[in-house]
Amino acid sequence: MSYYKIENLEQYFKHYNKSIREPRKFWSKIASENFTWYQECEKVMEFDMSEAKIKWFVDAKVNIVKNCIDRHLARKGDKTAIIFEPNNPNEEAQHISYNDLYISVSKMSNVLREQGIKKGDRVCIYLPMIPELAISVLACARIGAIHSVVFAGFSASAVEARINDSACKMVITSDGGYRGEKTIDLKGIIDEALTNCPSVEKVLVAKRTNAEINMKEGRDQWLQPLVDEASDNSVAEIMDAEDPLFILYTSGSTGKPKGMVHTTAGYMVYTAYTFKNVFSYEENDVFWCTADIGWITGHSYILYGPLLNGATTVMFEGIPSYPDFSRFWEIIEKHKVTQFYTAPTAVRALAKEKLEYVLKFPLKSLKVIGSVGEPINEEAWHWYNDHVGGKRCPLVDTWWQTETGGILISALAFITPTKPTYASLPLPGIQPILMNEKRNEIEGNQIEGSLCIKFPWPGIARTIWGDHQRYKETYFTAFPGKYFTGDGALRDEVGYYRITGRVDDVVIVSGHNLGTAPIEDAINEHPAVAESAIVGFPHDVKGKALYGFVILKESGEYRDRTNLAKEINQHISDHIGPIAKLDKIQFVSGLPKTRSGKIMRRILRKIAEGDYSNFGDTSTLLNPEIVDEIKEGRL
Ligand code: WTA
Repeated sequence: MSYYKIENLEQYFKHYNKSIREPRKFWSKIASENFTWYQECEKVMEFDMSEAKIKWFVDAKVNIVKNCIDRHLARKGDKTAIIFEPNNPNEEAQHISYNDLYISVSKMSNVLREQGIKKGDRVCIYLPMIPELAISVLACARIGAIHSVVFAGFSASAVEARINDSACKMVITSDGGYRGEKTIDLKGIIDEALTNCPSVEKVLVAKRTNAEINMKEGRDQWLQPLVDEASDNSVAEIMDAEDPLFILYTSGSTGKPKGMVHTTAGYMVYTAYTFKNVFSYEENDVFWCTADIGWITGHSYILYGPLLNGATTVMFEGIPSYPDFSRFWEIIEKHKVTQFYTAPTAVRALAKEKLEYVLKFPLKSLKVIGSVGEPINEEAWHWYNDHVGGKRCPLVDTWWQTETGGILISALAFITPTKPTYASLPLPGIQPILMNEKRNEIEGNQIEGSLCIKFPWPGIARTIWGDHQRYKETYFTAFPGKYFTGDGALRDEVGYYRITGRVDDVVIVSGHNLGTAPIEDAINEHPAVAESAIVGFPHDVKGKALYGFVILKESGEYRDRTNLAKEINQHISDHIGPIAKLDKIQFVSGLPKTRSGKIMRRILRKIAEGDYSNFGDTSTLLNPEIVDEIKEGRL
């Protein structure tokens, strides 16, 4: 019996139980039967949760790109691997076959080698959603270089911090990127970032917009001529199961971004397995995940998961509102998409527009629709289910994180009955538990608590680049020996999970994780600002938006507060990126603080939400009078 594909609900429970009772047997069978190894593992897993040390498929040797591409060539070399849909609908889509992809990735991997990149070197990829992005990621993995993709919406100083944190040797970027009607000067941003990045030796530049750009002698080269010259014969590097595959930065509730490190074999097995089962993938399906490859969703479910299964995956360069709000639906129709996977914020934005935009398209090709990135509210769930899924496609609400590598809790399409706003049941291998404030597990159903996972799964990130201590402290100490997700959840009467949102100082805005501390740091650098505190508040499209409480210095120079608010947002945009801008900025004379000097964010959150009902215990506040002042000035 194979464990790779779950066929029905009864089998789900059977596999689930097996995966809990005998995790080693369960995963070793999946790994051994569904992938190509140079050498299979000696031991399926080894772990010590108290030290946050986890290994899967110990001593196995493998190359993930051989599994994504080479092994499919004999049977489906001509099959389309990637459909590239450009920003401009009048530009022709590209169908990149597995053969084409093999050649492009092999050539690109030789370019990297010729430019001095070796196994273990870090390469920063700062590209728009064009084929070169997919090809660069896979080329790194082919030669064992560690890719660090930075979302091409981040500002120069955010890119700089990420490049320096992992000491990248190379940056791959483009002359620019398209986004709806705008073009973005990516090379200009890289030039600015690189004034402070001593580790970067080479910059390769893909052509996309033909914008005039600066090429720095000795550092920058156009990519295409190098690719044209390169050989398409590239031996894949033999990687150890636990060699790092990539670094991907995610916001923390404090301090600098965390470079989550994913390793090779466990990530491979887990993304392939979850892709197959959650989306019920079958051979001729066309899968479209609308995320950007700059986020984990794009890594796992635009590239690795689909390619490992030999699927056809769509890569879309543009945005849902360009040229108009029917773009997504037009693309589904055009490429006969069978599985469509997007974020609640996109659903809410599109649901605000005229219904004709979606009703114009029958969308009969669709079989499964999915949601990821934040809780999906009831209204958005129904709109998506009724008008996109036509009430016939299962809607899988998939809960997971950058740190988890792949989906942990979700319905399996056509197998698990769905329930609006519930991610539903854990995947095989995943043991969620809910914890109370006393840090004990709460047993039984109809309960709510902090969501932890009590046993490792193959896709879990292994460390934070350069800071294992922080990894251990962030994820394994709040509830000793358990992986703490940072999310709250409830479990209903039948054991279904509903994710209620973050319980730490991370706010999810339009599906993007934003740590409040780095934004506060950026604001506090403005010369007029003394101190600030940021909280999230509900927003009908973004899910959550940011509300900033700002104390000004007393110099009195800045009387024009409207302008000052604009300047503060510009400052945030320059330091982090436009996604972190504040929707509301209220100037205050103080912030509610405890006697130990900690800002009581709970109160600020309530004020931002306009909920004055229950502030809880304010007796420990040093300055309780400030609460009324802030309430009165609420925007
Ligand atoms: C949130 C994205 C509710 C959650 C894959 C998590 C969700 C954070 C869901 C991780 C969902 C993601 N329902 N909340 N289906 N999916 N989240 O690292 O708070 O960008 O901790 O990974 O998004 O965001 P990240």
